[in-house]
Amino acid sequence: MDWKKLYEERKCTADEAVKLIKPEDKVVFAHAVAEPPALVEAMIKNADSYKDVEVCHMVTLGKGEYSKAEYKGRFNFNGWFCSPSTRDSISEGHGDFTPVFFHEVPSYIRKGLFPVDVFLVMVSPPDDHGFCCVGVSSDYTMQAAKTAKIVLAEVNDQVPVVYGDTFIHVSEIDRFVETSHPLPELGLPKIGDIEQAIGRHCATLIEDGSTLQLGIGAIPDAVLHSLKDKKNLGIHSEMISDGVVELFEAGVITCSEKGLDPGKMVVTFLMGTKRLYDFANKNPMVEMRTVDYVNHPCVVAECTKMVSINACLAVDFMGQVVSDSIGTRQFSGVGGQVDFVRGTAMSKDGLGKAIIAMPSVAKKKDGTLISKIVPFIEQGAAVTTSRNDVDYIVTEYGIAEMKGKTLKQRARNLINIAHPDFREELKVEFKNRFNAEF
Ligand code: COA
Repeated sequence: MDWKKLYEERKCTADEAVKLIKPEDKVVFAHAVAEPPALVEAMIKNADSYKDVEVCHMVTLGKGEYSKAEYKGRFNFNGWFCSPSTRDSISEGHGDFTPVFFHEVPSYIRKGLFPVDVFLVMVSPPDDHGFCCVGVSSDYTMQAAKTAKIVLAEVNDQVPVVYGDTFIHVSEIDRFVETSHPLPELGLPKIGDIEQAIGRHCATLIEDGSTLQLGIGAIPDAVLHSLKDKKNLGIHSEMISDGVVELFEAGVITCSEKGLDPGKMVVTFLMGTKRLYDFANKNPMVEMRTVDYVNHPCVVAECTKMVSINACLAVDFMGQVVSDSIGTRQFSGVGGQVDFVRGTAMSKDGLGKAIIAMPSVAKKKDGTLISKIVPFIEQGAAVTTSRNDVDYIVTEYGIAEMKGKTLKQRARNLINIAHPDFREELKVEFKNRFNAEF
């Protein structure tokens, strides 16, 4: 096959490419940094030519314009995760949200539970053999590219070539739109006193030689800053960001003691700054695999001394963890949190730990502080990690163990790591809730 000829024949402008999208098509965007901005912009520009096109994806770093009320009926947004730019569409009622464990997204696509008519992705230019690299996101990208009736690719020469399940042949792509622009970047998290204290507590749970998973949000990345004295840490994580590069350069991450995929940092997507993307480029140590491998609890269970570190929004007295909604407002999604919480619990070496870390308080819009440890979860909120799955909860005030603990013991452990300003009122709630002294 002359892939160069095919590539030339299928090369077009973004406006031409998005004309292949038909009314009522299910259009899936590649995940996070792999979303192709020129194609998405062209869809917005040509919005008047569409009718009831469903747009689906997980995290977006883009503007999410298709999810705005003004495009209702042209585009209908259905998030598999919710990001700052798409959140309002769900609470305003014109967008919708589908709960799903991240590791199941490829199988949902295969089974037709998540149909894909058109898949939009950003890739590297083809290599000498005609393979484009998805670079920053293998997760559901590889399955969506296989299942889609039409694949539209933005070919950006700044996409890194990352090894693993990341290559799509030119013959499997229907249109190529050439661009050259820096990838979207996720700013570095702010590491203040609270984040440092949380990091120090988490560090006490992490032994030398542990394999780490780091979730989304500021806290997991902040924890990395407290691990500078550890030795031979490994990475088996749905995502990584810049903190991992720093620890690798400090000689802390070596992956040498990993039981599964030794010598490799196994990830399913990258989200950070150019420093991270440059680090991953043609780096034999970075192995990007699809999310049904990386996040599958049975695969996580194979990892040795596995520690997962994820964040949350609130925890109730029983240890029910709310990570993706604030009351009825859909805030993010379950992502891979439960995949890793369950995988660590199933660890074959019996050493897995699942940490959920959060600051003890949050600031509401009006500036008032609220405790994130609460007697009851807010009406309408969804439980992300159940009380049966929860393991360690960490705040800047310490660590609360949950596994094997009774309801009262859990509540006591949690109140002891709540913000001191809220402990007395939480103790009163304890009495009311359990009809017992604290
Ligand atoms: N009640 C009301 N508001 C709250 C709150 C609560 N209990 N807890 C936090 N908030 C507010 C914060 O004040 C902040 O408001 P602001 O944006 O106006 O400053 C906002 O909610 C976000 O909180 P923050 O702690 O800064 O979020 P984050 O960016 O660190 O992300 C999660 C934290 C929990 C949302 C994120 O980790 C997540 O989506 N987790 C679920 C998925 C997951 O864990 N995946 C793992 C693998 S990817």
